Order: sequence, then structure tokens, then C-alpha cells
Amino acid sequence: MPLTEASALAERMSWVKESPSSRVADRVRAFQAAGRTVLPLTIGEPDFDTPDHVKDAAIAAIRAGETKYTSANGTPALRRAIVSRLLRKTGQSYADGEICLGGGAKQLIFLAFLATLDEGDEVVVPAPYWVSYPDMVALNGGRPVVVEAGAAEGYKITPDRLRRAIGPRTKWLVLNSPNNPTGAVYSAEELAALADVLRAHPHVSVLCDEIYDEINYGAHAVPSMVTVAPDLREQVFLVNGVSKAYAMTGWRIGYAAGSARLCSALGTLQSQSSSCPSSVSQAAAVAALDGGRDFIDRTVGIYRKRRDLLVSGLAAVEGLRPAVPEGGIYVWTDTSALMGATTPSGAVLASDTDLAEHLLDTSGVVVITGDSYGCPGHFRASFALSEDVIREAVAGIAHSISLLRR
Ligand SMILES: Cc1ncc(COP(=O)(O)O)c(C=O)c1O
Repeated sequence: MPLTEASALAERMSWVKESPSSRVADRVRAFQAAGRTVLPLTIGEPDFDTPDHVKDAAIAAIRAGETKYTSANGTPALRRAIVSRLLRKTGQSYADGEICLGGGAKQLIFLAFLATLDEGDEVVVPAPYWVSYPDMVALNGGRPVVVEAGAAEGYKITPDRLRRAIGPRTKWLVLNSPNNPTGAVYSAEELAALADVLRAHPHVSVLCDEIYDEINYGAHAVPSMVTVAPDLREQVFLVNGVSKAYAMTGWRIGYAAGSARLCSALGTLQSQSSSCPSSVSQAAAVAALDGGRDFIDRTVGIYRKRRDLLVSGLAAVEGLRPAVPEGGIYVWTDTSALMGATTPSGAVLASDTDLAEHLLDTSGVVVITGDSYGCPGHFRASFALSEDVIREAVAGIAHSISLLRR
């Protein structure tokens, strides 16, 4: 049967959605190609260049012939670099077999669900959530159980809500700290309280997505569940990567630490799907992880200034309530006060998309709607952009909102 006929596709393709961030990025490119000026507050990656010493390591690897398949779990050099990074960060010393490697943190999360979920198993996903979690769970036969973690809870799941969400089929809790989209960071005390619930439910594991942990505006390092509750180590699957900390999104290297059984299962899946992540990118990742903190300290200083600029700019606009992010590169903004307002053309704003379209039409600003993150009445605005673009975007948003009748 030809693949052009819809019937040739699997049933799951009738409901799985393209990631909203990719969809919006395509839209921004289409607007730009049509000659329109857009201010894309949608950027989901650092706007800095990958550090030179990382690029040099990749070039050296190519010249040295490191251009062949590696083991599914990566080169010994990269596994060593990951083990020492994890020791510095968590105080836990992971054995070689407790490390897995993937083509980005995203692939590892997907494979972790593929390796563990049977039809109908449940995964607790606090909302607002990173857009990909629910679809990844569903694609692998699971059922996402979305639990509200709203402003009143600092955008964090409470132990009580977690307890109530857990059932006999629950396999995972997904915990993303610093959080995309809200920038919320779980404190050691908050993690300890959640650990108490997990201890009482040993059939539930926790997938800790720490991809933004180095982009941290707090006085202390972002705490890890394994540091706070080392006794739960076997129940924790810690996912990280080089994408955000070292401006290496295109290199596609993610890593994870967890039980040897799970890591071995992921190695098997990796060997049957992509064989291994790119050998050249692995050499680059070693240089990044072993290369000191200068790049991180410099870029976090710049992000902090941009964050403050964007938060204060949005807070000054009537009807917007931005949350101050403690980590990451996004400002999560409550727009619920604008629902029901009327645009100059007489349209009533009834959804996040209506507001996003109004911003785009009247000032060229592009944001990602809150409903994409399971939390309508909000938008996510990125500050991985120059201060000039942020100033221009804030002025544009203020102008667009001043046009509304409320
Ligand atoms: C919360 C979260 N987890 C994981 C990822 C994926 O990271 P990677 O580039 O390592 O696949 C992203 C990327 O946007 C993210 O926001």
C-alpha cells in the first residue's frame, strides 16, 4: 500500500501532535521568509555559540578518525566525564553500567518510557509541563495523569497531590527542575517531602529532568533528588545533557543515570534504533563536561540581566503577571486578566491562541501559548535573545495590550 494513503500510517499518527515549539519555529521562519519582522520570544535554545574549546575537540576527533560507531552507551571517555560530572553535582558515584547516553535528553526520556511502559501504565505529569512529556508517554502506550501544579503551589507538585495521583498502575512521576516553562526550582526540602511519598510507593520511579540545572539564578546549586534521598537511587532516573548548559543543542548529546537494569534496557533500545549517538559529538561533549565553568558563569550572568529586563518589562504591563524564573531561559506569564477583552477589530479574546494572534498581528511578537503546556491563561516568553530584542518585544507587547478594550 502506498505510504501517501492515510491508511498506511499507524493509528497513533492520527493523534500524535508535532511539538508546538517546532510548529511555532516553522511559523516564525515562514513569516520571516515573507519579509515580516517578527520578534520570536519562542526560542527554546541558548543563542550563544558553542564554546571554541568544544568545537576544537570535535575537529580534533574528526582528524583523529573518531568517526566510527561507538558502543551504544558511548565512548569510555564520555562515560568517565559524565560520571565525574554526576559526582560533582549529586555526590553520588555512579558505576559505568548505571550511565546511559542518547541523542539528546529528549531521546533518553522517550526510550525510558519505551523501556518501561506497558499498555495502560500511568505517568504522573505535573502541569505546566514541557510539551513533549504527555505525547511521549502516550506514544509508548502509557496514560499521562496530569496533575495541576499552579501559581498557588509555586508551580510545583505538592506531596499531597502526588499521593492522590498515584494508583496501582503508576510507573513514573516526571519532575522537571528547573522547569520549562515556569522556571520553578524544587528546593531540597520540597524534594525530600516528595521522596517521602515515593518511599511509600516503591512501584513508582521518578524521572528527574535536570536539563536546565546549570542555568540557575539561585545562590546554591539546583538540588537533585538523589542527593536529598540517596536511598531512592534505584527509583530515580536522572536525565541531563549538554544542550542548554553549553549551547550545544544541535550536537544532540544527552545522558542519564539510573538503575543498571534500566540503563542496560536503554542500551539495548539504542543499539536497535540509532546504534549510538554521533562519535564526533561525543568527543565535543567530553570537552564541554571537563572544560570548567567559565562559559556557564559568563552566560548565566548575561541571562540573569535579560531575565530581569523581561520580567520587569512584562510586570509593568497592565493585565500581565510574570513569574520570576529561578532557572532556565523562559518567563511564564499569567494573562488570564486579558481573557474577554476586545481587539480593535471587535474580536473577543477567548483563548491563549487569540491573544497570541493579536500580539503577532499588532506588534510581530511571537509567544508560545499556555495551553500547549497544559495550563491555559498564560504564555511562555523566552529571553535567549539580545537585550535590544527583549526591549523591543516588551514595547510591542505593551502596545498590543494597550489596543485592547476591557
Ligand atoms: C524540559 C526539557 N527537557 C528536555 C529537553 C531536550 O533536551 P535535549 O536537547 O538534550 O534533547 C528540553 C528542550 O527544550 C527541555 O526543555
